[in-house]
Amino acid sequence: MAARSLACGFGRIPGILQGRGGPRGWRLRGVSALLRAAHGPRGSAPAGAAQYASYPTLSEQAARQPAAFWGPLARDTLVWDTPYHTVLDCDLNSGKLGWFLGGQLNVSVNCLDQHVQKSPESIALIWERDEPGTEVRITYRELLETTCRLANTLKRHGVHRGDRVAIYMSVSPLAVAAMLACARIGAVHTVIFAGFSAQSLAGRINDAKCKVVITFNQVLRGGRVVELKKIVDEAVKLCPTVQHVLVAHRTDNKVHMGHLDIPLEQEMAKEDPVCAPESMGSEDMLFLLYTSGSTGMPKGLVHTQAGYLLYSAVTHRLVFDYRPGDVFGCVADIGWITGHSYVVYGPLCNGATSVLFESTPVYPDAGRYWETVQRLKINQFYGAPTAFRLLLKYGDSWVRKYDRSSLRTLGSVGEPINREAWEWLHNVVGDRRCTLVDTWWQTETGGICIAPRPSEEGAEILPAMAMRPFFGIVLALMDEKGKVMEGGNVSGALCISQAWPGIARTIYGDHQRFMEAYFKAYPGYYFTGDGAYRTEEGYYQITGRMDDVINISGHRLGTAEVEDAMASHPAVPETAVIGYPHSIKGEVPFAFVVLKDDTGDSDVVIRELRSNVATKIAKYAVPDHILVVKRLPKTRSGKVMRRLLRKIVTGKAEDLGDTTTLEDPSIIMEILSAYQKHRDKGASGQ
Ligand code: WTA
Repeated sequence: MAARSLACGFGRIPGILQGRGGPRGWRLRGVSALLRAAHGPRGSAPAGAAQYASYPTLSEQAARQPAAFWGPLARDTLVWDTPYHTVLDCDLNSGKLGWFLGGQLNVSVNCLDQHVQKSPESIALIWERDEPGTEVRITYRELLETTCRLANTLKRHGVHRGDRVAIYMSVSPLAVAAMLACARIGAVHTVIFAGFSAQSLAGRINDAKCKVVITFNQVLRGGRVVELKKIVDEAVKLCPTVQHVLVAHRTDNKVHMGHLDIPLEQEMAKEDPVCAPESMGSEDMLFLLYTSGSTGMPKGLVHTQAGYLLYSAVTHRLVFDYRPGDVFGCVADIGWITGHSYVVYGPLCNGATSVLFESTPVYPDAGRYWETVQRLKINQFYGAPTAFRLLLKYGDSWVRKYDRSSLRTLGSVGEPINREAWEWLHNVVGDRRCTLVDTWWQTETGGICIAPRPSEEGAEILPAMAMRPFFGIVLALMDEKGKVMEGGNVSGALCISQAWPGIARTIYGDHQRFMEAYFKAYPGYYFTGDGAYRTEEGYYQITGRMDDVINISGHRLGTAEVEDAMASHPAVPETAVIGYPHSIKGEVPFAFVVLKDDTGDSDVVIRELRSNVATKIAKYAVPDHILVVKRLPKTRSGKVMRRLLRKIVTGKAEDLGDTTTLEDPSIIMEILSAYQKHRDKGASGQ
């Protein structure tokens, strides 16, 4: 490793630690003490805030004096090359978002080198491979060496600071090393979920203008082989910026290597296991992550270095009660933000042992998660409601068969968790003794924003409720007129009224879209796109998306994307897609399509539409229901009224609300009867 001081020298910066002895000093000690408790050895007092400063006190401080709250945390939590001079410079009205300005650091040094200096042989990753019982443990020293070899390979192939690199891989140590290798040399990674089609992959590579793609020859998922490299071959034909494809091997099978392709492991073997880290500004880009919005194509959300890393690390520690020596098991794919923040960056920054789960919840059987918990002695298990709903249908014996006494915290993320799934997780999986945290957040927020923890020691947790804002998250609910709603027992649009370190900084290449999507609806506030309910006690429950984004098994999808994919079919002049409730997946796409008059066999067209969506987006985006209708309900100004379609298919046709703007009210009966026929055919899929 290149010689580099891990001391940060903050003592020299005037202003940041002022106020000792006064009330502010006391509060600052409160924050540090809280974190020390979270850092404390196993068996020490839990990370409850009560012994130090109460949750309300710290929360209030973080809201009122964000600089005094986050400044010392950043100083104590991260390893800096150059201390920052300004904690924050943010204005939600103008979209100005800057944290830890003037500071310089390297994220991979924070995630690797600092731990290698202290305990090189501690385990960074446990790779729970698709094949059960074949896990691989990787130490911090090994991960640093692999990262450096990969970083040197990238450099040798022309990747410079600021260049974008696409990572299209399954969950694996090499994928983590690829992310950290980019961070090491100041390149920007964009991880693309390995379930996306070639066209989706190409769209993202082109938007980000990636120079290099890193992939596997093939990958395994639930015992099946996925031809990842072939998908990349198809994609890069459409991507003029791609100069090299680095191909790693997950299986022993040979794949065709073309003129862009470079065998990754062979190249890495030639490289030095040491690579000097690039010193990055706090606000330099760390990664782009594409996610669906209510309009247009997926947007590349930009996260930067220091604020994102700090926020993911601090939330990881405090929300999950992570303590040194724990084995942290987040089963998300690294292609989503949950994988970025709670498989890679948060845990590794904290020196944790992080589990990489490559398989599926039901391979080889429905006991997979709990057998893994037993074998790896996982202390925190973090997963998605869709999987919990699926598993509870298989019965409790699959859970009870395995020893789960290592578990202390159970976490849920990605979509609302229904009460039945919550109770099952709490009573059956957690034997009523684990803390269950339902965590609400988004790709845009960088880390968890609402969760039952942190809270005061022993504070109540209510079923199926995200509950409390994290420190520094100031929530507001808006009514239909855009006014802030006060008090309890109210529902409204969920907004955040103050910047926090983890917030995304922009949409890559389109700051205006960023402003419009998040800051226009309620000026001065970040609008999440979700609705929420606040109880009399001030607890929050998320009620779901308020825009045209749907959530299929925790995967975000814009209905507009599905509509675009289907509208490219020559027989289809118009479509409208909505979310339809599903008992396991949460929601599935339901498509209404209008066919041209001269269309022959509609079944053939429907099959083609399904395949169009799979090729243009991904298999999970294929509508479960496609209903042919003569026309769509529209306002007089020509806008499709999806709200009416949603009511019709969810059995709320008696309560359609205001239909006065509808161009032709007779369409309601027309669609209702088409839907009833579809349902009677037994096609409801439920
Ligand atoms: C939804 C995933 C209810 C929500 C981390 C949000 C949730 C979207 C929860 C973001 C939760 C996430 N309860 N809904 N605990 N967590 N969501 O960007 O609609 O993939 O806006 O980030 O998922 O999805 P994303």
